[in-house]
Amino acid sequence: MTEPTLPAEPPAGFPGGPGLFRLDPGVAHLNHGSFGAVPVPVQEAQAALRAEAHADPDAFFLAVPDRLAAARTRIAAHLGADPDGIAFIANATEGANLALDAIPLDDGDEILVTDHGYGTVVAAAARRAPVTTVALDPGLPDEDAVRETVLAALTPRTRVAVLDHVSSPTARLIAGPRLLADLAARGITTVVDGAHAPGMLAEPLAGGADFWFGNLHKWGYAPPGSGILAVAPQHRGRIRALVPSWEDQHGFPRSVENRATADYTGWLAAPEGLDLQQRLGADRVRAHNSALAAHGAALLAQIPGLAALPHTPGLAMRTLRLPPGVAQTQDGARALREELAARLRVRVLIWAWPGAGGIRICGQIYNRPGEYERLAAALPDYLR
Ligand SMILES: Cc1ncc(COP(=O)(O)O)c(C=O)c1O
Repeated sequence: MTEPTLPAEPPAGFPGGPGLFRLDPGVAHLNHGSFGAVPVPVQEAQAALRAEAHADPDAFFLAVPDRLAAARTRIAAHLGADPDGIAFIANATEGANLALDAIPLDDGDEILVTDHGYGTVVAAAARRAPVTTVALDPGLPDEDAVRETVLAALTPRTRVAVLDHVSSPTARLIAGPRLLADLAARGITTVVDGAHAPGMLAEPLAGGADFWFGNLHKWGYAPPGSGILAVAPQHRGRIRALVPSWEDQHGFPRSVENRATADYTGWLAAPEGLDLQQRLGADRVRAHNSALAAHGAALLAQIPGLAALPHTPGLAMRTLRLPPGVAQTQDGARALREELAARLRVRVLIWAWPGAGGIRICGQIYNRPGEYERLAAALPDYLR
């Protein structure tokens, strides 16, 4: 599926969007999906919490468990989650390890992953058991084709499937509701990597997953180090903190959240990010971001040798394959990414893939159509 025509009108800038961030104006930040960006009101909320902690450490730290419970309840309302079924975690990588450590496995059991999976998440699976890696052709036309490919790769020994909710390199929905239901019907425990879901998907929790984890610090406007692990009721008793501390005896979620003396201000400020998005109009933000990414993808698709990959409508990330021979290795991808950042002052994700790598662009309320136009005009010079 290509993106043959440009949308008639590029989306207008989101009112006040860039002013909400303190990003370097000399750089086109088209890679929100990697590390997110923190709006100023959220930065200020976190700074106020830090000031409170510095003013009276005893009062601050003694109140942390109850304040976390209140912050968790606010996040649960945004995600449509059961407040007792989610815990703050540092990031998606931690979520993967917590989830996989909680699944009982016997010798010979296998874990299924896909070749679109994120490296640290796949590594967490490989630490637990031998993995079977499903090759998903990035050109698979739709969610049904993805579902059939995953189901066809199950072996009699597959006990667990670790699947992206939205994949990082290829920016597409993988763990759709039908696939999760089909896996559950086969007795497979499902672990969904929702790193990109909060703030990007209208329904961020993968309904029916045994374990789901997501980052608030990508599309949820939260400070770095803010993630959420959601666990189905029957698995909650098996979750063990990676480093047990105070509150361990209370079990999930408090056991996971207590890190002894640590910086909790990111989690406490995290609800401000989703609150802000709600005030801006979450649907408007999503529609704007998706339209911007589509505009950028349509421009890039006009460059000879670039091919838009099939995409999931409504997402704020789009991916195109690069011309044959470009970014086939991690080193090649890194070199192109760094050259674009240093010389063109554009930040994008370049990913390595045999034959030809890919370029992923994102849309966010601080972006402007002109930034994608700048990238599209100059990119051919970097591909020679
Ligand atoms: C799909 C996916 N999973 C996991 C991660 C890892 O996130 P973190 O660095 O917050 O652990 C990323 C980061 O980009 C990602 O895109």
